[in-house]
Amino acid sequence: MSTMTQGRWIRGLALLGGLLLGTPALATLPQYDGKVHEGVASCASSVCHGATVERGGSNVLQNEYVTWTRYDKHADAYKILLTPESQRIAKNLGLPNAQEAAICLDCHADNVPVAQRGAEFDITDGVGCEACHGGSEDWIARHTAPEATHASNLAAGLYPTDELTARTDLCLSCHLGTEDKFATHQIMGAGHPRLAFELSTFTELEPPHWARDEDYATRKQVETPVATWSAGLLASARHTLSLLEGRLVHDAGLFPEIALFDCHACHHPMSDKRWAPTRLTQGLDPGAIRLNDAQFALLLPVAEATDRAAADALLQGLRALNGSVATGFDDFKAATGALRTAVDRLAATLARPLSAEAQERTLAGLVQAAAQGDYRDYVLAEQAAMALDVLLLSTARWDVSRPAMDRVFETVDDEDHFDPEAFAQAVAGLAAGLQVTAR
Ligand code: HEC
Ligand code: HEC
Ligand code: HEC
Ligand code: HEC
Repeated sequence: MSTMTQGRWIRGLALLGGLLLGTPALATLPQYDGKVHEGVASCASSVCHGATVERGGSNVLQNEYVTWTRYDKHADAYKILLTPESQRIAKNLGLPNAQEAAICLDCHADNVPVAQRGAEFDITDGVGCEACHGGSEDWIARHTAPEATHASNLAAGLYPTDELTARTDLCLSCHLGTEDKFATHQIMGAGHPRLAFELSTFTELEPPHWARDEDYATRKQVETPVATWSAGLLASARHTLSLLEGRLVHDAGLFPEIALFDCHACHHPMSDKRWAPTRLTQGLDPGAIRLNDAQFALLLPVAEATDRAAADALLQGLRALNGSVATGFDDFKAATGALRTAVDRLAATLARPLSAEAQERTLAGLVQAAAQGDYRDYVLAEQAAMALDVLLLSTARWDVSRPAMDRVFETVDDEDHFDPEAFAQAVAGLAAGLQVTAR
């Protein structure tokens, strides 16, 4: 057995073990990997990853550094902390400045302990290569050797960015936050923008500095946009459940951490008259404060298309979760537990790729839910718009869907003036044009 197959096999086993236990094997996030981070400059030489154009004759493009500095916002993540906007946030929080505050650097840079900063490490590089790929102490010299494989690199501490769950955990550690670094409502209140994430869309927006070509497919898995989307949602759902089960809710005083809730449940004009019962809010009273439940709600169409029992459990769990905010912690714990079971069950179903028919049913279910007004909350509409886009990408109707899809995106463009009816109508228009039949 070659090292590569062996590595895959071991990873496959770990993944299977994780599935059986309900939780995938966790990779240590780069920030906590205990390795020396050598710095972006050590990756960026022109014969390594700093070529100005793509190179032939190597597995990788070699112009990753140029893509990152020119087009990837992560390269500016530290510089953003020097702006008046950041200084205002810092001042409101009583911090001397933003660029030295751990709470800002933890997400806006590769903030590893000083002892782990190599000779070329520079904190001002922001979210650099090793913030995602892991400290290169043990692989930088060896990963270019002829005998090096993806498996041997992983064994030496390269973070598995190619695995969708590990990748989502990585992205969400900053794009949603963890118990150790969270963009709290205090930070939002000080002026920080709201965070939102969807794996497939954000992967394309980054933009990719890797080519998913034939050679890539021999070394790593190439996932379809739909598989990326659903794996991202599953990982987001689990990540959210961990936060809901942890101290941000249970050691938080009179009110749980507010940033776990749907921002627009509180922040929208009273004149909107936005409340109306929907399938998702069944059992909730008008005026109830809803959690940010978008990742559970958006898993529903894919569950309905593939696994009825998981779909029913998901819907019941979601309703119970929001209902329990009014009834107490015991009900809340029961609801998060039920949701976790539903999500684990669905994860097992979605371990097999979705068939073309199942994708079509997912699209139809999503369209129906959106057009009938289930996504009245902005976070739901925002996620639904990204999901529609991803699902259409996988059908032959991508091109013809652009004008109608643009109109859908327009309705979620401005979160402060979101009109749920306009969103539902735009999706109905899209569906009519594409002849997606609601079930
Ligand atoms: C949990 C991680 C996290 C923490 C903590 C955090 N940020 Fe952010 N911040 C982000 C992410 C992710 C974005 C990008 C959001 C997007 O565009 O989707 C962002 C965006 C911003 C922006 C807007 C950037 C732009 O391009 O317009 C500013 C300003 C900012 N952060 C400042 C701060 C400051 C100052 C602190 C410390 C008080 C801080 N952030 C703490 C993750 C975090
Ligand atoms: C925000 C996270 C992030 C940052 C920052 C980042 N990468 Fe990546 N990188 C990824 C992801 C995700 C992939 C695709 C999954 C994979 O192949 O592992 C990837 C893939 C790659 C690949 C693999 C290409 C292949 O064909 O196997 C290389 C090489 C690479 N990145 C180099 C770099 C370099 C060099 C930098 C810094 C200049 C960098 N990356 C910064 C996330 C990141
Ligand atoms: C160490 C923290 C960190 C990690 C890990 C991280 N990001 Fe980010 N990301 C940020 C910050 C901070 C910003 C905002 C930077 C700015 O505005 O200059 C950002 C911005 C972005 C943007 C631009 C958003 C916009 O509004 O234009 C995209 C897209 C993105 N990240 C995708 C990803 C993906 C995909 C991953 C996982 C592979 C990832 N990020 C991992 C911190 C992180
Ligand atoms: C439970 C209700 C509630 C939720 C949910 C909520 N907020 Fe708030 N928010 C408030 C209150 C109350 C204030 C204080 C208003 C004031 O000082 O005038 C506030 C203040 C703010 C401010 C400061 C506004 C200003 O005038 O400077 C921002 C920005 C903000 N919230 C963003 C968010 C974001 C982003 C989210 C979601 C992650 C969110 N809020 C979720 C109730 C909420």
